[in-house]
Amino acid sequence: MSRRVAILLSGGGSNMVALARSMTGDHPARPVLVMANSETAGGLEKARDMGIDTAWVDHRPFKGDRPAFEDALHARLVQADPDIVCLAGFMRVLTEGFVRRWQGRMLNIHPSLLPKYRGLHTHARAIEAGESEHGCTVHEVTAELDEGPILGQARVPVQPADTPDRLAARVLEMEHRLYPAVLRRFAAGDRRPVMLP
Ligand code: GRF
Repeated sequence: MSRRVAILLSGGGSNMVALARSMTGDHPARPVLVMANSETAGGLEKARDMGIDTAWVDHRPFKGDRPAFEDALHARLVQADPDIVCLAGFMRVLTEGFVRRWQGRMLNIHPSLLPKYRGLHTHARAIEAGESEHGCTVHEVTAELDEGPILGQARVPVQPADTPDRLAARVLEMEHRLYPAVLRRFAAGDRRPVMLP
């Protein structure tokens, strides 16, 4: 039986599209819900166009009451009954309480070679530090931000003329290859890391 996958996003959802497109044929999983923290997240429309159920829970009315926001998110997720939750550009920090409810079943993609450059502005920071390579990581979500067992990494050489935007674009292309590869393996019950290229 197919594993059920929910995808959480905040933005344009290019990783969501890559994940959803990958889940066909003999893939062990299927997308059952795409959920955002804003009605206007571009990824919601893309998901609807792909025939995937969508939902959103706006974080703003909760005004800093993170647990209450997460309770609402959790309630909607439970309705979709996912086996796996993929964070794909979901820009809300999640509390330990929420993470614990989905631990071992929740993945995230982060645009750096973790443990380097947790947090934001990873591309600018990698260039500034004079890194010769950068990349992206898929990891299991644990209570610490951008921590958790690494399930895959893809490396991208930094070029001398790189700006943060140029580098980000090349890393994003690799994200679109890495995340589907990790999800396929994870959904089949295999947690060995995927290393690209
Ligand atoms: C990606 O760079 C991802 O690594 C980061 O947020 C961005 C999401 O992009 N966590 P998209 O919405 O998937 O296009």
